[in-house]
Amino acid sequence: MNDKLRGAVIGFGFISGRGHVPAYLQRVDQQKDVEIVAVADTCEERRQAAQKTLPKARIYADYKSLLAAEAKNLDFVDISTPPCDHAEIAHAAFDLGLHVLCEKPLTTTLESAKAMLQHAKKAQRVLFPCHNYKHAPVVKAIREIIATGRIGKVRSLTLSTYRNTHAKGVTEWKTHWRREKRFSGGGIAMDHGSHTFYLTFDWLGAYPTAVTAKMSNLEPDKYDTEDNFSCVLGFPGGLAHAHLTWTAGMRKVVYTVQGEKGGITVSDDDLELAIMEQTGGPDVAQGAVKWTTEKRSVASDWMDASHVGWFNSLFDQFKTAIATGDFVGKEARESYLCIQLITTAYRSAADGCRELPLATEVPV
Ligand SMILES: NC(=O)c1ccc[n+]([C@@H]2O[C@H](COP(=O)([O-])OP(=O)(O)OC[C@H]3O[C@@H](n4cnc5c(N)ncnc54)[C@H](O)[C@@H]3O)[C@@H](O)[C@H]2O)c1
Repeated sequence: MNDKLRGAVIGFGFISGRGHVPAYLQRVDQQKDVEIVAVADTCEERRQAAQKTLPKARIYADYKSLLAAEAKNLDFVDISTPPCDHAEIAHAAFDLGLHVLCEKPLTTTLESAKAMLQHAKKAQRVLFPCHNYKHAPVVKAIREIIATGRIGKVRSLTLSTYRNTHAKGVTEWKTHWRREKRFSGGGIAMDHGSHTFYLTFDWLGAYPTAVTAKMSNLEPDKYDTEDNFSCVLGFPGGLAHAHLTWTAGMRKVVYTVQGEKGGITVSDDDLELAIMEQTGGPDVAQGAVKWTTEKRSVASDWMDASHVGWFNSLFDQFKTAIATGDFVGKEARESYLCIQLITTAYRSAADGCRELPLATEVPV
């Protein structure tokens, strides 16, 4: 492998056109450790857009012709198509000895997620999901506070994601593909659930053992996927409550982390840390408990849905995984657990919110 990683982007839509590729171009200038040599997109207008952005790249009409012509010139593929095609493209890339950076959700069924992890292990090539919310500055700040022990052991979480609409793909292709199950595999839980769930794993320092879920589709005549989703995850040491909506009149994330000695509240960039001080008895009513609060703003650019500013910190991890031979690392394993959670939550919601068990082992 050269010092410079040579990559191909499959799917030149919103996330790669506005997020990944601008971040790669920044690396081409600064770290000089990556080169995008080829792009494949099934849509002619998106191929033209790719050629404009990357004049030196070779452009293909599908991933198969790209891989046939370019595999020998590549170290990795960046899969940025809708989820229905992630697995097929990843298998083809592993067969040709390439590493895979794959957008979330890893895939749409547990069986295909397992097969992807197993193939990566067998091919000895890295499978790395784009779990980019971990790279948001305010999310990194939450993680740092938990690690100091200042709020004590984390016992409960709430994670709410408010969106005024489903996320749209580029207008030149199928802009509403997220509402069509055949492309997306599901609605807001499939589209956004991974981000919520890998954050719960991180903040509670464990994997959930049970889920109960409820969801709705307010436009069943138009779409076959859910637009609102809520669930409760049971962890060995606590609970996490997740709420995802595409029908809110606002765009925002609100996270709370409740520890035994304090708590964190985040609303987009605004972070408040409350530390509890027991001055005698157990109860605030007797004036026996005091809180000191610290407030700060951690600029995280939440309104930019491409999250371009978070990408290179994630790409650094992908690069390290390649350099160290960490083929099916923590992130890949957690992407499998996210798919297990989403698909099990769908079964729970379909069965009157019945609580269903989750495995914490990854079968690879
Ligand atoms: N991590 C994040 O924050 C984030 C944000 C947005 C999207 N995403 C993910 O990125 C992926 C793409 O989403 P998007 O919003 O960019 O969608 P999009 O519709 O904007 O782009 C998809 C592109 O892929 C092309 N395409 C479709 N099928 C293809 C195939 N089989 N081979 C080659 N090209 C194909 C389309 O022509 C289009 O240009 C999804 O998995 C989505 O969940 C992640």
